Amino acid sequence: MILVTGGAGFIGANFVLDWLACKDEPVINLDKLTYAGNLQTLSSLERDPRHHFIRGDIGDRDLVASLLLEYRPRAVVNFAAESHVDRSIHGPGDFIQTNVVGTFNLLEAIRDYWATLSEEEQSSFRFLHVSTDEVYGTLAATDAPFSETNRYEPNSPYSASKAASDHLVRAWHHTYGLPVLTTNCSNNYGPYHFPEKLIPLVILNAIAGKALPIYGDGQQIRDWLYVKDHCAAIRRVLEAGKVGETYNVGGWNEKANLDVVGTICSILNELQPRSDGKPYAEQITFVADRPGHDRRYAIDARKLEQELGWKPAETFETGIRKTVAWYLANREWTEAVTSGSYRQWIDRQYGDEA
Ligand code: NAD
Ligand code: DAU
Repeated sequence: MILVTGGAGFIGANFVLDWLACKDEPVINLDKLTYAGNLQTLSSLERDPRHHFIRGDIGDRDLVASLLLEYRPRAVVNFAAESHVDRSIHGPGDFIQTNVVGTFNLLEAIRDYWATLSEEEQSSFRFLHVSTDEVYGTLAATDAPFSETNRYEPNSPYSASKAASDHLVRAWHHTYGLPVLTTNCSNNYGPYHFPEKLIPLVILNAIAGKALPIYGDGQQIRDWLYVKDHCAAIRRVLEAGKVGETYNVGGWNEKANLDVVGTICSILNELQPRSDGKPYAEQITFVADRPGHDRRYAIDARKLEQELGWKPAETFETGIRKTVAWYLANREWTEAVTSGSYRQWIDRQYGDEA
C-alpha cells in the first residue's frame, strides 16, 4: 500500500480518487483536515476497504512512525501543505510550521522506518514530494519557461516554505540515501478546488452575482494544468522516476489572469446565462494587487515527457469547460465549503461586501 498525506485537499483527494479508480493498491490517507481539507470530497470511498483515512499532522512524528510501522507502505506521496499564497502573506507562521517543520518531521519518521526495511524493500521504497513551480520565482515576458535546473528564487512566504521543504527532501537523499522524487508543478485547476483560488472563486462569485476580483492589471501569467493530468504525472513519476531527480509538471497553457476570467465568463454565458441576459464579464472588478505578486510562471515539461512519456490529456479549453460544468453540477459540495471559516477569510481578504 501507499501512504498519501494531504489526501483530503484539492490535488491529494483527486489523486486518491484517481488512484483507487485505476489500481487496487490500498491508500492510507493522513490529513490534518485544516480549513482546506474536506472529507466530503472522499465520500464515494466511505465503504471502500482500500481507503484508510487518519486525521493527523505530518509534523506528529510519533503518529507518522506508528502508521508506518502498522501499515508498512512501499511509498509515501506528500501533498500535505498550506497552499494559498494570499494566506501566507497574512500569516506565514502556519506555512513554516507545516511546509518546513512538518516536512522535516515527516522525513525523519520515514528515515527511521526506512532503516528497518530489508535491502530490497529499501531500494524499492519511494518518498515523492509534491512541490510547485513557484520555488523558481518569477519570469519576464521573454524568458524561457522554468526547467529543472533553474535557480530557486522564491518570492512569497508560501513559495519560500515550499523551497525550504524541497531542499530538505534533497538533503535527506544526498545525506541519508532516502529514495526521494520531487515534482514541481504549475497551477492546477479542476473539480474539488477550494474557492479561495482564482478559478473556483470566479466561477462561484459569477453565479452568485458577486464581483470577480482581478488583482492589479490582470496581466499576470500562470501555466494551467488540469488536476487529473497532474495526478497522472505523479503516478508516472512514482512508477518510473529516477531516484533523487526532480521533474517539472506543466500543461504548456500560459494564460493571463484576465483571459482566464474572460474564458470562464464566456462559458458561463453559454451554460447558465444571467437572468438579466447581460454578460458575466460585467462583474469583473479590478482590486489592489497582491504584495510581491509574481508576474509570470511557465513550465518546461520536456524532461517528464521525454524520459517518462507523460503528456497532459487536456488542453486549457477542454479542461476549463469541464471544470465550469463540474461546479455548476456540484452545488452541494460548493455550498458546504463556502460556509464557516471560509466566509471569515473572504471578509478579511476582500472586505465585507464580497
Ligand atoms: P490544499 O490546500 O487544497 O490541500 C492541502 C491539504 O493538506 C488539506 O487537506 C489540509 O487539510 C492538509 N494539511 C495541511 N496541513 C497539514 C498537516 N500539517 N498535516 C497533514 N495534513 C495537512 O492544497 P492543494 O492545492 O491540494 O496542494 C497540494 C500540494 O500540491 C501542496 O503541497 C502544494 O504546495 C502543491 N501544489 C499545488 C498546486 C496548485 O495549483 N494547487 C500546484 C503545484 C503544487
Ligand atoms: O503555481 C503553482 C501554485 O499555484 C501553487 O503552488 C499554489 O498552491 C496555488 O495556490 C497556485 O498559486 P497562485 O497564487 O498562482 O494561485 P491563485 O489561484 O491564488 O492565483 C492565480 C492568479 O490569479 C494569481 O496571479 C493571483 C490572481 N488572483 C487570485 C485571486 C484569488 C486574482 O487576480 N484575484 C483573486 O481573487
